[in-house]
Amino acid sequence: MFEEGEELKRIYGDENVFDFSLGNPNLEPPPSLKKALKELADHPIPGMHRYMPNNGYSETRKVIAEYIAEESGLSFKEKHIVMTVGAAGGLNVVFKTILDEGDEVIVPSPYFMEFAFYIENSGGEIRPVETNDDFSLDLKAIENAVGERTKAVLINSPHNPTGVVYDQETVKQLGELLKRKSGELGRTLYLISDEAYRRIVYDGIRLPIVFRFYPHTIRVTSHSKDLSLAGERIGYLAVSPFCEDLDETMAALVFANRILGFVNAPALMQRLVAPLQKYSVNVRIYEEKRDLLYHALKEFGYQVVKPQGAFYLFPKAPVEDDVSFIRELQSRRILTVPGRGFGRAGYFRIAYAVDNGVIERSLPGFKEVAQKYGLG
Ligand SMILES: Cc1ncc(COP(=O)(O)O)c(C=O)c1O
Repeated sequence: MFEEGEELKRIYGDENVFDFSLGNPNLEPPPSLKKALKELADHPIPGMHRYMPNNGYSETRKVIAEYIAEESGLSFKEKHIVMTVGAAGGLNVVFKTILDEGDEVIVPSPYFMEFAFYIENSGGEIRPVETNDDFSLDLKAIENAVGERTKAVLINSPHNPTGVVYDQETVKQLGELLKRKSGELGRTLYLISDEAYRRIVYDGIRLPIVFRFYPHTIRVTSHSKDLSLAGERIGYLAVSPFCEDLDETMAALVFANRILGFVNAPALMQRLVAPLQKYSVNVRIYEEKRDLLYHALKEFGYQVVKPQGAFYLFPKAPVEDDVSFIRELQSRRILTVPGRGFGRAGYFRIAYAVDNGVIERSLPGFKEVAQKYGLG
């Protein structure tokens, strides 16, 4: 698909191909980051390029722990934080740490397809569980899916590919469910919260603090999206101070970070993101893009859940065969991803972290295809 997109761009020119296929943030990092980078280049700290403790710089972890403590009201300390090579690195470290061969991880579906590979990397198996029509969690279905082989539930909010944000009541009920099920099984289930888009939220809503609702929670996040540093591979994982076997778990996470070959997160980036914990790119810009595209698609007759975060829309395709549908869009030089790539055929994903001009120029194509399928 990527190659076909490149071919279209070669034939028609970049500005005439509307590429919504990749979740690659199109905003620049905050100017303060570039200033700090220049400052470090001009006044290097001796030893700043050397090996370091595998969990990362103590100063950075301390700042992050203080930030989470303030946000959650819980007693986070630097020892609860491991700096990671993005959220992707963090998730792999978590699975390497908690999974034994054949363990299952429950993942609400649709889901970010890489999850399956990360889980399999550590000998586990993904257990997708369908969500409700509005992509909210079907807690009953999750409860029914928990069994002898379940080790963890992995949630992702704001969500890729749907843009849905789970509300506090849902997270609370999920926490209760996991406590109940851990009790029945006589062992602890983990809750892994992928918050890669945690600061990309709209409509003034606040992301629930998952740590408050379940003690055995691990947050995995990064600055790929909120500071537009996706190529720099900087993130962290934070383990609840109330997690079972805390010291052993932390030691295993740090060891996994090392032996998976990450060793430690990039040194320069650890220094740069520390003072930016409360910053993000201007989220209003993404919100405007969401509004522009969402309202247009609704007007053209597409069925689509209004996202409250991340930078994706996941409309229903007007035919079951999502691949033939995205081919139809492609013939109008609009590149999207079929829903089956996220475990949900019959839908398609639009990644709208692109210039407004791309969105505007794509609209006639979306409209034509809608008309062709009798929508509106
Ligand atoms: C849901 C989700 N989790 C994790 C990641 C990985 O992000 P990172 O760049 O921090 O590794 C992504 C990237 O798109 C994502 O969409």
